[in-house]
Amino acid sequence: MYFYKNEFMNKADIQLSPDDRGYYFGDGIYEVFRVYQGKLYEQDAHMQRLQRTASEVRLTLPFTIEKIGQILTELVAKNKLIDGTVYLQITRGEAPRAHPFPTQAEPIMLAYCTEVPRPTATIHNGIKAITFADIRWLRCDLKTLNLLPNVMAKQAALDNNVQEVVLHREGTVTECSASNLMIIKDGVLYTHPANHLILHGITRAVVLRLARGLEMPVKEEAFTTGQLMEADEAFISGTTVEITPILEVDGRKIGAGTPGAYTRKLQEEFVRTFS
Ligand code: PDD
Repeated sequence: MYFYKNEFMNKADIQLSPDDRGYYFGDGIYEVFRVYQGKLYEQDAHMQRLQRTASEVRLTLPFTIEKIGQILTELVAKNKLIDGTVYLQITRGEAPRAHPFPTQAEPIMLAYCTEVPRPTATIHNGIKAITFADIRWLRCDLKTLNLLPNVMAKQAALDNNVQEVVLHREGTVTECSASNLMIIKDGVLYTHPANHLILHGITRAVVLRLARGLEMPVKEEAFTTGQLMEADEAFISGTTVEITPILEVDGRKIGAGTPGAYTRKLQEEFVRTFS
C-alpha cells in the first residue's frame, strides 16, 4: 500500500503525471526513515529536516508535520512493516514545463514502505571505498531530489568494485554518496561540520551524541583525504547503513584494515538506541 496525493492506494493504481515537476526539474524534496520494530526511528529529527528543506526551497508542505507523521505511521501499520524503510517525497506539483514556480500547482506527496533487513553483513565486515570529486551544488544540506551527482558517484564505486565513494572538494573530505563519513585518530572522532557542504545526517547526529556519551572527544572539523588515509578508523553513518566500517580507500588500508575498537563500541551503543 502506497500513499499518493491524498489517499492510500495500491501502487498499480497510482497515476503519475509527466507534468510532475519532480521529473522535469528534480523539483522536490524527500526523506528516508528507518523503521525498527514497527516504529519510525528518529521521527522528529527527520520531520525537522523535512521542514527545513521545504522552507529553504520555498515549497509549502501539503499537510502539517503532525498529519504527515500520522500518515507515515498509518502506512507502516497498513503494510505491517516491522523492519525496513519509509520513503517520503514531496514535489512542487504538476504544471506544464516552465522554470518559474507554478501559480496553480499543489504539492504532491508520495510515500511507501520497503521491507529491508538491517545490513548486518557489511556492518560487521566493513566496506571498501574510492575517493571521488564532489561536484555537487553548494546546498548539500538540503535533501532534494537532485541526486544525479550522487548516483554518478555511487556507480563509479561499483564500477571500481568497491561499495562507496568518499567525496572530496579539492582534497577536503565532505561525505559519501548517501551517508556521512567519520574518522577516528588518537581516540578523537572527526567529521565534517554540518554546514552547506554536507547533508546533516540524522544518524550522524545520533553517533555524535553516542560518542559524547562515551566521553570520546568529538571534533566537527573538516579533514583531508590524506588525513583519512592516516586515520586509525573510519566509518560511514546513515539511515540505511547505520554505522558501517570503511576498511580501505583507494586500495590503501585504513588503520589495521579491520573494523576498529571505537567503531565497534559505537555500533554496540547504536543498536541500543532502537532495541
Ligand atoms: N541518504 N549524506 C547524504 C548525501 C545522504 O543522502 C544521506 C542519506 C546521508 C545520511 O543521512 P541520514 O543519517 O539522515 O540517513 C548523508 C538516504 C538514506 C538516501 O538518499 O537514500
